[in-house]
Amino acid sequence: MMSENNENRDYEHKPSVREHASARREKQDPEAGFEPLSLWFFSICAFVLMIGGGYLGAKSAGFDFGSTQVSGYKAGTPPNFTPAGPVLSERDKYLKSGEAVYKTVCNGCHQFNGRGQGQIPPLVDSEWVINGTERMAQIVLNGIRGPITVNGTSYGAQEMPAQKGALSDQRIAQVITYVRERFGGITDAVVTKEMIADARNRHGDRVAQYTAGELAAEDAMLSGEQPAWMNPEADAAEGETSADGKNSGDVKDPAVNDKAPESKETK
Ligand code: HEC
Repeated sequence: MMSENNENRDYEHKPSVREHASARREKQDPEAGFEPLSLWFFSICAFVLMIGGGYLGAKSAGFDFGSTQVSGYKAGTPPNFTPAGPVLSERDKYLKSGEAVYKTVCNGCHQFNGRGQGQIPPLVDSEWVINGTERMAQIVLNGIRGPITVNGTSYGAQEMPAQKGALSDQRIAQVITYVRERFGGITDAVVTKEMIADARNRHGDRVAQYTAGELAAEDAMLSGEQPAWMNPEADAAEGETSADGKNSGDVKDPAVNDKAPESKETK
């Protein structure tokens, strides 16, 4: 009777039993996800790493990767690869140089978009750009002041300084070519440094800037050969007619090599 009572005693709920040293020695139940791994698992991993490492070491000749490189190998370039970007035609290069001159010299006044500002007239679609190259060369060489009408608007409060001291014949030729192409839409003829050298001979010792009335006639073109690299294009443009008639009367003299420009579509 007595022993039966003892067996049924609820030891678990007696603090004196739960806090006994032997109970504390027992491992805590692991939290979910932190269960200890089996020693077998570690053994298998170690085995796989050893075999794998041995295999790699053997096949790579003791981890000497020099042996896997082909001696004398040089990385080749794919066909049609041009490291410096697309190849520019002679004309494109000429226009690029003209753009560089424009950006350093003309930009500040006429603006990069060529639309001018305030009393500085626009170059876009300007009759002084599209028409005679003789008078455009005069303007760039010696500058211009006093009243001038551009695209039907009159200007005159500001002056354009002479550029002949700052720019070589080549630079002036390039910038005029660039301005005529970009703002006047003229693509069939370029202005060469020989043409500008000739213009400088004739106008270069002028002291003061021009006034509009003193400039050469609107159809006077600088004379000289087109560069050889212009020929294919010049030939292609030969058959074109200036359809609108607006500029078709500009060039009368067959000796001049520049052609009547087509007027540019207005934007
Ligand atoms: C310091 C300012 C200034 C600079 C730099 C300048 N211009 Fe001008 N340009 C003017 C002004 C101002 C006029 C108008 C002058 C007048 O009213 O008579 C003018 C007029 C012109 C004209 C005739 C009118 C027109 O708008 O078509 C052309 C062409 C021209 N400039 C081209 C150029 C080119 C090309 C360059 C660079 C090489 C250049 N200019 C640099 C101020 C400048």
